[in-house]
Amino acid sequence: MSTRSEPLNILIVGGGGREHALAWRLRNSKSTSRLFTTHPDNPGLASVAKPMGFEFNPKEAYRVEQFCKKESVGLVVIGPEAPLAAGLADALTKAAIPVFGPSKEGAKLESDKAWAKNFMRAASIPTAEARVCESVEAARAYIDSREVEAMVVKASGLAAGKGVMVCDTKAEARDAIDRIMLKREFAEAGDKVLIEERLKGPEVSVFALIDGRSAAVLDLCQDHKRLSDGDTGPNTGGMGAYCPAPILDAKTMDTVHRQVLIPTLDALRRMEIDYKGVLYIGLMLTHAGPKVLEFNVRFGDPECQALMPRITGDFAQLLLATATGKLHEAEWDTNDLHTCCVVLASGGYPEKHTTGVPIHGLEDAAAVEGVHIFHAGTKRSASDIVTAGGRVLNIVGTGASLDQARKRAYDACDKITFVGKTFRTDIAASAASPVAIR
Ligand code: AMP
Ligand code: GLY
Repeated sequence: MSTRSEPLNILIVGGGGREHALAWRLRNSKSTSRLFTTHPDNPGLASVAKPMGFEFNPKEAYRVEQFCKKESVGLVVIGPEAPLAAGLADALTKAAIPVFGPSKEGAKLESDKAWAKNFMRAASIPTAEARVCESVEAARAYIDSREVEAMVVKASGLAAGKGVMVCDTKAEARDAIDRIMLKREFAEAGDKVLIEERLKGPEVSVFALIDGRSAAVLDLCQDHKRLSDGDTGPNTGGMGAYCPAPILDAKTMDTVHRQVLIPTLDALRRMEIDYKGVLYIGLMLTHAGPKVLEFNVRFGDPECQALMPRITGDFAQLLLATATGKLHEAEWDTNDLHTCCVVLASGGYPEKHTTGVPIHGLEDAAAVEGVHIFHAGTKRSASDIVTAGGRVLNIVGTGASLDQARKRAYDACDKITFVGKTFRTDIAASAASPVAIR
């Protein structure tokens, strides 16, 4: 890629910690000129990107399109899955605006787990065996007919990371079906369910950029999904992450390339699905080899926050190259830093949680060497920054070793106070070593 890239105006869609981290990295990219945000209420985002000036609604793609034309935006980076599933990328692509983020059809890899399972089966991608059920009766009958008690029940649609229930017994699985299909806890996301074989093994997230023709694996991260230390408590969107995760040895990584990444690219092309963005592959490393637990069509949150400080080079050009099918021309690398991201959440998260609570100590925390603070659910209220969501802040420590990165992150966490502050003290504490897979 040319080292004399044109200045690029960029719009970032989305308003959480992931988008703040993307905006921060883009702000520090050589070719980024003006940077815009759809979510001005996030003070972190607002410190690096300019608001569009009107309320964002993914269903009003024409307004975003008009804005992009008016401000000569040359790249739209879509952070979350919902606007992708709503077809925002399709509308902007039609208007000849380069978009980092797949089409609505491509987003089905995340927004429709039943569809994604069929996609994987057709492409022979290793994944858990599963049955798709469209009625409570069919689901119950299938649960009863299974030989083993342990299984996983998943709502097929988008459920903000909460629609997966890992069950030890058939009774729990039946209860999960009741919650999803009868009580409709996830509304229409529960019209269909998947009942899956329960796999065992360590988990890892692989992030691959895909430009329609080729793929580039960015980094490996490990997320901590449970609320409390020792992987206990309810599942959350993610309470912390570290990077790089040394969990895949070169041989296993090669297997992931051959058995997952290449077949996915080929199948997308065969099906003429426009996919230009990042593919998040959630893997479980089983004794029978790596198997896909889920695909997501966006960066993980908070994995992205742990990933961004490691990427070197002109990130804006890397995303533009992905969006325009020129990934092979992009120059990028990762540095040697280790990163550890700790999520500070509100009291009560992931259930009903408090908001509007003043946050203290942000400046002191930001002054800790090697620390970046990304705002996830905060807002300004008079002269205070207050909590405004379940996951509030992402504290990322960087360092020459994972221990140093952890220590810095936790030193900064200690300096921040707010009523109800909830976090895990064991993020990256037992960073796994490579798992040998047959
Ligand atoms: P997902 O959102 O599909 O990644 O599921 C959330 C979490 O549920 C995963 O990170 C795993 O810990 C667990 N999980 C999902 N599918 C399975 C499976 N087939 N076997 C065992 N655990 C699973
Ligand atoms: N951290 C998990 C996710 O973004 O889905």
